[in-house]
Amino acid sequence: MSIQEIQELVLQTVEDYGFIEDTATLRIDDAKLDQLAVLGVLNALLSREIVSYSVIEVEYWVLTDEGAQIADNGSPEIMVFNAIPTGDDSISIPALQKLVGDSYKFGQGAAFKNKWIKKSSAGLARNVDSVIDSTQADLLAIRSGTVLTDKIMTDYKKRKLIDRKKLSSYSVAKGPKFTTTIEKEETDITHEMISSGEWKNVQFKKYNFSPGVTGGAPRGGHLHPLMKVREEFRQIFLELGFTEMPTNKFVDSSFWNFDALFQPQQHPARDAHDTFFLKDPATDDKFPPEYTQRVKEVHTNGGYGSIGYGYDWKKEEAEKLILRTHTTAVSSNMLYQLAQEKEFRPVKYFSIDRVFRNETTDATHLAEFHQLEGVVADRGLTLGDLIGVLHNFFAKLGIPKIKFKPAFNPYTEPRLGKWVEIGNSGMFRPEMLRPLGLPEDVSVIAWGLGLERPTMIKYGYDDIRELLGHKVNIDMVQKNPICRLDKKMGREL
Ligand code: PHE
Repeated sequence: MSIQEIQELVLQTVEDYGFIEDTATLRIDDAKLDQLAVLGVLNALLSREIVSYSVIEVEYWVLTDEGAQIADNGSPEIMVFNAIPTGDDSISIPALQKLVGDSYKFGQGAAFKNKWIKKSSAGLARNVDSVIDSTQADLLAIRSGTVLTDKIMTDYKKRKLIDRKKLSSYSVAKGPKFTTTIEKEETDITHEMISSGEWKNVQFKKYNFSPGVTGGAPRGGHLHPLMKVREEFRQIFLELGFTEMPTNKFVDSSFWNFDALFQPQQHPARDAHDTFFLKDPATDDKFPPEYTQRVKEVHTNGGYGSIGYGYDWKKEEAEKLILRTHTTAVSSNMLYQLAQEKEFRPVKYFSIDRVFRNETTDATHLAEFHQLEGVVADRGLTLGDLIGVLHNFFAKLGIPKIKFKPAFNPYTEPRLGKWVEIGNSGMFRPEMLRPLGLPEDVSVIAWGLGLERPTMIKYGYDDIRELLGHKVNIDMVQKNPICRLDKKMGREL
């Protein structure tokens, strides 16, 4: 029977008779109603003042499984008595035990206590000619609704032959807004309702402010701390007018990850010890042929004022598919696409996503982690712009003091009196930019940093493996607080 059917029956009965004395008497197709379902229906109707109700609580005795068995088959003591031969004949205890089975021990004790049986030379014999099984008689009486003296009832309850049960049912009366036709209640007021004036006619569902109905915290859908910090960084980039690059390609060709960035094919980073190579498919050759030609040329012979590396550049090496080792693989591709546009336009791009390196993991290294990257392309940018942009960016993070170290060295920032490496930056070399086809006066500044380190500092982790990977505690993901990189947080960083 459905909730709908129960509701209809309740309302129709109240309509026909004015009230329901006891919902336990209601039937649908001869079946009693589930009173818990009735309660649900009544509460819903009560909240809309369609009915009111009061609880009828009945307590009654029921036989337990054991009690029911005695009612059906007799008590253990009668089973023992019946198994003993009539008259003065005896029976051995093992034989008796076998006849009575499981309840022998209790039955024998009770039969002795009742003086029904006595010891004999060969075992046990009857002490009386006939007995009345009062336990069975009592249980049969209780089963049919008779309540015996308190002493007897407590005794049977102690023996776990009977138990007390509670049954709730309800008496129902009309509420102030009684009706048998129930309109759907709206839960939201919509734009359409307001503009048409319809809101005046519809029924709104009432808020339920009763204690205990605050709802549970959702069990799923928690953001990982890295994703919380990513969102904060993302907001900073967006506030600074940057556009997010599409970073959904974890697999990329060596071409965009290395060659386009003027990283020679013998570079140690391109070794299988540092980079994850794909087996199947192992290669992809779909990169622009003319541009590829220019990349080959600059690696081999140089150009744009460079002498190049002077080695034999191989397309097969560039075709190798890898798990990208940095998000700069995305930046090189985006800059290529920018260079294909008819007119050059300045851009500010950013990305924050996962990268992969074939590293042995330890407290500070993982084989996969996240990088954040900013790229600015405009005419006439200088190192001064790079420094300025980075100052701006880190000031937004609440880190006003940063120090730059030249060349390959990462730059650093102060924390607890010492400088901590947080990132890497630079201006793209002509060897990387010119083959793309960007105008000669266009410079590109870029910087990158890991997402894990600031997240570890923010959430207080010493071991990166507690943050990402198979050792992560799911509880940590559910319970970590929201992330706000405000000025105060900046000082903490
Ligand atoms: N790709 C560099 C790295 O993985 C980070 C970087 C990005 C450095 C852009 C300079 C410019 O460490």
